[in-house]
Amino acid sequence: MRIAVPAEAKGIETRVAATPETVKKFIGLGASVSVEKGAGLQAGISDAEFEAAGASIAKSAKDVLKDADIALMVRRPADAEMKNLKSGAIVVAIMDPYGQDAALAGLAKAGVSAFAMEFMPRITRAQVMDVLSSQANLAGYRAVIDGAAEYGRALPMMMTAAGTVPAARIFIMGVGVAGLQAIATARRMGAVVTATDVRPATKEQVESLGAKFLAVEDEEFKQAQTAGGYAKEMSKEYQAKQAELTASHIAKQDIVITTALIPGRPAPRLITKAMVESMKAGSVIIDLAVERGGNCELAKPGEIVVTDNGVRIVGHLNVPGRLAATSSSLYAKNLYAFVETMIDKKDKKLAVNWDDELVKATLLTRDGAVVHPNFQPKA
Ligand code: NAI
Repeated sequence: MRIAVPAEAKGIETRVAATPETVKKFIGLGASVSVEKGAGLQAGISDAEFEAAGASIAKSAKDVLKDADIALMVRRPADAEMKNLKSGAIVVAIMDPYGQDAALAGLAKAGVSAFAMEFMPRITRAQVMDVLSSQANLAGYRAVIDGAAEYGRALPMMMTAAGTVPAARIFIMGVGVAGLQAIATARRMGAVVTATDVRPATKEQVESLGAKFLAVEDEEFKQAQTAGGYAKEMSKEYQAKQAELTASHIAKQDIVITTALIPGRPAPRLITKAMVESMKAGSVIIDLAVERGGNCELAKPGEIVVTDNGVRIVGHLNVPGRLAATSSSLYAKNLYAFVETMIDKKDKKLAVNWDDELVKATLLTRDGAVVHPNFQPKA
């Protein structure tokens, strides 16, 4: 049983899909692990550390993937990498498959069994494998750190001999995993925190973290959470009421962090150009939804936009990758927890249970075909 850890595409991805800790554990299960030269460097892990954990270091992407039974990756393999994978190999990654029909067809054609970690059901057994949560949590933390760095003032109230510095006001829009961590981090740093969401369950969560909740709490709000725990797309009427409520609030904020997402839909527009224009010079907006279209009308992917009225709108890409060492260590543990279930501990062999609900929920391609129900041609 050979496990490969290729280096991720340079310039895009800083994370790595294994750590010395998970390498040791895989070896303990009877696997041999090969890591591509330099794969961990941007996440603060040297080749020597991987070697000390028992991995061999492969010189190239081709060498590392050759004969691999399992490839552990952060992102979906590129076409060039697919060529190096043997038919029947297992590939585990964040596959980002929506709207990527050609890439999916490529995975199928390569004959690999491709698993999309982001499709892991959010059930108790799979919590330890939940990459969306492990990475969103860190993105929420990092959003506050990035906000503080862009903001030209201190966050906590400080009483000094030279005068009192007021606490910064931070508003968090969208209180899922990222938003909750952003609230907790902003509170720890001494800011005055308010937050909003469309799911009623978030009200108590916000208040339990010591922040104030602000939302249009009408009948639609009471129905906004799906059975899966996600938000629905809200009606035009609700969006108008929400904008009216938040507009005057946003004008008074120092930092606004937006994290609002709806599964399978573009991110909801929560901050208009007019709202940005109402903000004070020096205020900061951190848009964590920028890769899904953005919650702020003026946010640009990968850019920090400075508006004429001096507001800084931050659209960093791959925010978990801005904490590559921590995000890699949690991601690697998520992958280990899942892949471990595919290994027979007694025989020390790969033994995938294709009927397992976690396997069925995450498997995109197998034996040359796209098998996931979300990607079948419409009847
Ligand atoms: P997400 O990343 O899909 O969305 C982020 C937040 O944006 C959500 O709270 C959503 O309600 C909010 N949002 C959407 N539209 C909005 C709008 N128009 N205005 C304001 N806010 C808006 O959500 P995430 O972080 O994936 O969490 C979704 C749910 O899953 C939560 O209930 C969370 O507690 C639950 N969860 C359950 C886990 C489990 O293992 N049982 C693990 C992780 C999350």
